[in-house]
Amino acid sequence: MSLHCLVYVSLANQEMSDDHLKSMLQKARAKNETLDITGMLLYRDGFFMQALEGALKDIEALFDTISKDARHSGLLLVYKKPIQQRGFADWTMGFNKIDDTNIEAVDGYTNFLNNPTPAFFMERASEAEAVLDQFKHQLFF
Ligand SMILES: Cc1cc2nc3c(=O)[nH]c(=O)nc-3n(C[C@H](O)[C@H](O)[C@H](O)COP(=O)(O)O)c2cc1C
Repeated sequence: MSLHCLVYVSLANQEMSDDHLKSMLQKARAKNETLDITGMLLYRDGFFMQALEGALKDIEALFDTISKDARHSGLLLVYKKPIQQRGFADWTMGFNKIDDTNIEAVDGYTNFLNNPTPAFFMERASEAEAVLDQFKHQLFF
């Protein structure tokens, strides 16, 4: 199997309440488990960033499904690359919500939110990776 990691960003089309996010995650985690996909989803004020890890064909197929989901739009692929080992091996889909109480601790995230242009994301893949990495060891729910 060729293990890959795919990271994208998107904008929510509607307000995502905690209940809404939880039910979306519950289904996503069950499906990811069957596909042996792991990863992390970050959410702040209508802004998503997600890492999907697994076999290339599986994460590409899931990304295709996710990109058609009406709950968000404007998806931008930040990077897709081969990896030696999973960065989020413990989570079928980890989740963290970033808000004013924890944003201070998040290096780089403020820049992402202030500059939501395709060029910004394409040029800063390593920054996206660093932001995801900061949430590896704790989950919001
Ligand atoms: C931001 C966002 C992230 C999502 N992440 C996943 C995910 O990691 N795994 C998953 O199966 N579905 C995820 N979904 C839901 C999918 O878009 C889709 O509804 C789900 O895979 C069921 O698709 P199916 O009915 O074609 O099997 C996500 C949706 C959104 C809006």
